[in-house]
Amino acid sequence: MTGEQIRLLVVEDVPQVASHIRSLLNAQSQIKMLDVVTAGDRAVGTVGELKPDVVIVDALLQGRMSGQKVAEEIRRAEPQVGLIMLTVPQNPVSENPERGVDAVLKMPFTGFDLTTMVRKVGEARAAESAGSGSLVVTLFSPKGGVGRTTLAYNLAVALGEDHRVCLIDGSLQFSDLRGLLRVPAVAPSIVNLPTDRIREQDLADVMWRDPSGIDILLAPPRVEMAEMVTVRDIEKVLSILRKIYEFVIIDTRAALSEDVLVFLDSADLILQVLTYDAMAIRGLVMSAETFAAIGYPASKLATVLNRSDSSGGFSKADLEQALGRRVDFEVVSDGHLVLAANNEGNAFVSSSPDAPIARGVRGIADSLASRLRERSPALSRR
Ligand SMILES: Nc1ncnc2c1ncn2[C@@H]1O[C@H](COP(=O)(O)OP(=O)(O)OP(=O)(O)O)[C@@H](O)[C@H]1O
Ligand SMILES: [Mg+2]
Repeated sequence: MTGEQIRLLVVEDVPQVASHIRSLLNAQSQIKMLDVVTAGDRAVGTVGELKPDVVIVDALLQGRMSGQKVAEEIRRAEPQVGLIMLTVPQNPVSENPERGVDAVLKMPFTGFDLTTMVRKVGEARAAESAGSGSLVVTLFSPKGGVGRTTLAYNLAVALGEDHRVCLIDGSLQFSDLRGLLRVPAVAPSIVNLPTDRIREQDLADVMWRDPSGIDILLAPPRVEMAEMVTVRDIEKVLSILRKIYEFVIIDTRAALSEDVLVFLDSADLILQVLTYDAMAIRGLVMSAETFAAIGYPASKLATVLNRSDSSGGFSKADLEQALGRRVDFEVVSDGHLVLAANNEGNAFVSSSPDAPIARGVRGIADSLASRLRERSPALSRR
């Protein structure tokens, strides 16, 4: 919201106070006062209609609904709206976001007090609701060939049936998704974004619209172009994508390099992919030490055992013991189906939804969808 005009609604039954607020805002253009509602019981309806960013409510509203009640109803109905309670020193009110009060403004106040508080509340609320409606999931493995690209694509397609999904080809040098989906070399990629100010429209222009319905942000078509993508670009892109998509799924290359670390830092959840392979396990044990040193909480990590029915001599218990953590998801091996789907450039979750391998991937998708719902119970109702 920084730099954009903030839309303000005032719920106030004392005409002098409402016109005082209006006159204080006259001298500036950052905040636009939409309207004044003079009765508490009309407040929620008007908020629904006008969609303000911030509402000021007088704590001492007369009539059927108290200021506190109005604040609570607005929070329940429109949780993305910021709310400031206006009061007098004789009637102290405390901040309580749960009950709808993000900040308290005491009379008398100056134009500076008013604009600063409205801006602060508006920006904080916008930042919160921008992130909480989305989940960024990065597939990671320090060992190559374990199935990240295959799983990332199929997972994104499965989630795409009910959600807005963007898949990022974070394998910046070799662009694995270009290979998998046989995207023409001329298709735009992350390097075609402007370097200074990236806007939503710029992103829309470089997205590859996959026939499955998901959008894909491709990696550059040539190896040496990967160097043109900076850490700052990636951060900026991710912050915009979070606002547009419910899921951002990221495929990465087998490394713990600077570019991969940005994708890991930005993730809400890291899906560590491994197979029954001593080298894959060893790699994850080593990277777990790095994650602990960086300070990633355990809840940021989950483990996917791919080809879970090809154990090659040791049991799942052995694997979990070596890894020092439980396996959260399992996807079986199905070389035939994976090959057939990959050869046709489609997702096995769509072409063979009942195959055990597809059910494994759908299990991950279901779990991610419920994580998203838990994260934003109020927002996902909208
Ligand atoms: N569950 C599975 N059953 C059968 N084959 C699989 C399975 N998962 C992946 N494969 C196959 O394993 C190979 C490696 O998979 P994929 O390219 O997805 O792995 P990756 O981790 O992205 O590898 P890279 O290190 O090259 O990025 C591919 O040939 C793929 O078709
Ligand atoms: Mg890959």
